[in-house]
Amino acid sequence: MNVVLQDTTFRQLRDFIYGKCGIYINDTKKYLIENRLVKVLQENNLSSYEEYLSLMQSGNGNELSRLYDAITTNETFFFREQQQIDVLIDLLVPGIIKDKPGKAIQIWSAACSTGEEPYTIGMLLAEKQRGTRAGLIASDISEVVLESARKGIYGSYSVRNIPEPYLKKYFRSNGHFYEIDPAMRNSVKFLNVNLVDDRKVKTLRDIDVVLCRNVLIYFDDKMKQKAVSLLYDSLRPGGYLFIGLSESLHNVTRAFKPVVMNKVIVYQRS
Ligand SMILES: C[S@@+](CC[C@H](N)C(=O)[O-])C[C@H]1O[C@@H](n2cnc3c(N)ncnc32)[C@H](O)[C@@H]1O
Repeated sequence: MNVVLQDTTFRQLRDFIYGKCGIYINDTKKYLIENRLVKVLQENNLSSYEEYLSLMQSGNGNELSRLYDAITTNETFFFREQQQIDVLIDLLVPGIIKDKPGKAIQIWSAACSTGEEPYTIGMLLAEKQRGTRAGLIASDISEVVLESARKGIYGSYSVRNIPEPYLKKYFRSNGHFYEIDPAMRNSVKFLNVNLVDDRKVKTLRDIDVVLCRNVLIYFDDKMKQKAVSLLYDSLRPGGYLFIGLSESLHNVTRAFKPVVMNKVIVYQRS
C-alpha cells in the first residue's frame, strides 16, 4: 500500500493526537505517524490519511482506542530504574505506614504499559515490607498493553533484570515465557486512564505515591503542566511523585518540593 501523507494532513492528525492525549509529534517525526498508522488504514480499508482523519474526527471511540495503541511507545521492563523503586520501598513506604496506621497505602503506577512497573513494586513490597497493606493501581491509555498487563505473561527481554530468587518465586516458566504468579497478578488493579483527561484522573484521589515515569517525555511543556497538575490533585497532601530518572519538572511546575534521597529526586506535594 502506497499512501501519501500530505504535510497538511500530517499536521491535522498530529494536532488531533496532541489534543486527545498530549503526545506531541514534531515536524521531523512525520515518518512516525506514517509507520504506525499505515496498518490501521489497511485494517479499516481506507485509501487515504484524509479519510482516516475524517473517521477520527467523527468521534469513533473504538478507533480512538486503536489510535492510542498504534501511536504510543510502550518500552518497559522489570526493575527499570531500580534506584527509584528502592527509595520508594526502603525509605518512603515505612514512613507512609507510620503516617496512616491500619490503613492501606495507595501506590499508583500511571502509564504502566504492560505491567512490569507495578509488578516490580508488588514483588519488592512483598519481600521487603512483608505484611504491608497496599492498594496497587496501574493505568495506561492503551488497551492493548493493559490487556497484556492483566495477563502477566512476559518474554525474556522483559524479565532480564529480575534477580533469580524473584524469578523463581513469582513466575512460572516454560523457558520461553514467564507467567506472573496469579496472587501477584490479582493484587494489581489495572485501569484505563488518560493522564490529560481531567474526568478520568479525578477518579483517583488520596494517593500516597504516584509513579509517572518515562511518559511525560512524549508531551510538550503545556501538556506536561496539565498532567502534572492533575497528578498533584490526585495525591494526598505530603504524597510523593516519581518521574523518570532522566526527566525533570524544571519549566513544568514549582508546586512540588523536590526531596533528594539516595541521589534520587522525589517530588513531594505540599
Ligand atoms: C515508555 S512507556 C513507560 C512505562 C513505564 N512507566 C516505565 O517507565 O517503564 C510509556 C507509556 O505511557 C503511555 N501513555 C502515553 N500517553 C499517555 C496518556 N496520555 N495517558 C496515559 N498513558 C499514556 C503509553 O501507552 C506507554 O505505555
